[in-house]
Amino acid sequence: MPDATVASPLLEMRGIVRSFGAVRANDGIDLDVQAGRILGLLGENGSGKSTLMKVLFGMLPPDAGSIVFRGRPLAGHRPAAAMAAGIAMIHQHFMLIDAMTVVDNVMLGWPEAGRVLRRAAMAARVREASRRFGLDLDPDAPVASLPLGRRQRVEILKAILRDAQLLILDEPTSNLAPSEVAGLLAILRRLRAEGRGIVFITHKMPEVLEVCDEVVVLRAGRVAGRTPVAGASPQQLAEMMVGRSVAAAPAPAAQAPGAVRLSVQGLTAPGLSGVTFALCGGEILGVAGVDGNGQIELAETLAGLRRARGGRITLDGRDITHASAAARVAAGLAYMPADRAHTALVRSMSVAENLMLRDSARPPYARGALLSPAGRRGRARTLMGEYDIRAAGPDTPAGRLSGGNQQKIVVARELDRRPAVLVAHQATWGLDPGATRFVLDRMLALRDGGAAVLYISSELEEVLAIGDRIAVLADGGFAGVVARAAADLPQIGLWMAGRAA
Ligand SMILES: Nc1ncnc2c1ncn2[C@@H]1O[C@H](COP(=O)(O)OP(=O)(O)OP(=O)(O)O)[C@@H](O)[C@H]1O
Ligand SMILES: [Mg+2]
Repeated sequence: MPDATVASPLLEMRGIVRSFGAVRANDGIDLDVQAGRILGLLGENGSGKSTLMKVLFGMLPPDAGSIVFRGRPLAGHRPAAAMAAGIAMIHQHFMLIDAMTVVDNVMLGWPEAGRVLRRAAMAARVREASRRFGLDLDPDAPVASLPLGRRQRVEILKAILRDAQLLILDEPTSNLAPSEVAGLLAILRRLRAEGRGIVFITHKMPEVLEVCDEVVVLRAGRVAGRTPVAGASPQQLAEMMVGRSVAAAPAPAAQAPGAVRLSVQGLTAPGLSGVTFALCGGEILGVAGVDGNGQIELAETLAGLRRARGGRITLDGRDITHASAAARVAAGLAYMPADRAHTALVRSMSVAENLMLRDSARPPYARGALLSPAGRRGRARTLMGEYDIRAAGPDTPAGRLSGGNQQKIVVARELDRRPAVLVAHQATWGLDPGATRFVLDRMLALRDGGAAVLYISSELEEVLAIGDRIAVLADGGFAGVVARAAADLPQIGLWMAGRAA
């Protein structure tokens, strides 16, 4: 193992500054990455992680600071130059052509490869790298046929074949099923064993403990701390990250549930095979399960974005089985979709407009809409303060906010409506631990105010933390439902695996 104190680092970033208007996203950051090490880059939402990596990869010019990579200065560069120097960035939204095969995607945009290596030779290299790193990729498979985790591996494969010495992964696990996460972490270990350096951005402490050699924590654009992972406790790391002690989640007080607010009987749709449950006011039903077992289908059918083929949905006694999405919203249903980028936000619209998106047609914002734009901005500012949405201002386009802060817009908008029923799907996607806790607490408060909450998440811990009852979705139906007090982890695991396998 290289000695960090003696070996000169693979990467040295010094005094990086980058502002967006009044926001100093990076405020003088130093970062070193060693060869053969995995560096965890942590920090709360909006602390500057993605910005720093975009500067490194040449997607954003810094206002000040210097970068030295493998002993050579890197300045005024674009991504193509970063790649040529040996840096690869694994994007969250993969830059792959679905209709093409794995090997064709690898060759795409890599003219040198096309000139030197014929397709058959490249396919052989794909096979060899796939075996060596445990990627399990067939060069001739069309990308469209691959699940998310495999597509990500195509991106990693591209980096390996281009001989990248430093790989940047910005929240690579947030969209993956648990088994895919384990696979990715194993691949990262093999890359490390070959002496490559890795920057790994995540909000998930277990992942940090499992693969990172050291962590650097950013807070408000500065380095707030760095520490080797060996010897640090999860509690210490979490506190470094949040900047205060993170209290263990208090068990929510038991409630006497009220009347049934959402009733679902024998709901069928493509991907749903007869889901039945009744959800009362003052109650949270946590829905656990491996992604891809009907979660999206259930959430979207309840929200009115997919049509039910059979069964019945009632909200406060009203049949809404065939009601439009807008009619459901008007009836008191709130919905937080997992697919933030496409369904929940209009990226080109301002933070303020996104916050009012659902309510422009009803009080108080119907009146608000008649108010001056300044009035609406004021309302937006209040919500931004309450939900800690970090942006230059209410007029900033939502797409410019950090990932976690975009998610907070969705959460604020849906919770602020005080809905009768909330359907939340991956509500804490991309949120840091402090923000996650905050959102869970707000959902508990919503419940305590008499609302019914359906909390669908692949994070079993969260489901167990706030569900009054726990249901497990497997193969399009509930494999089991149990009161939290009676929840038995091995049994839940069996439900998750049994019908999911
Ligand atoms: N293109 C942009 N225009 C305006 N502001 C931006 C832009 N990109 C980032 N910011 C702001 O810079 C700050 C840092 O954002 P960044 O995306 O680096 O945070 P992050 O640490 O990656 O957060 P997250 O954990 O939510 O992904 C945030 O306040 C963000 O709103
Ligand atoms: Mg980010």
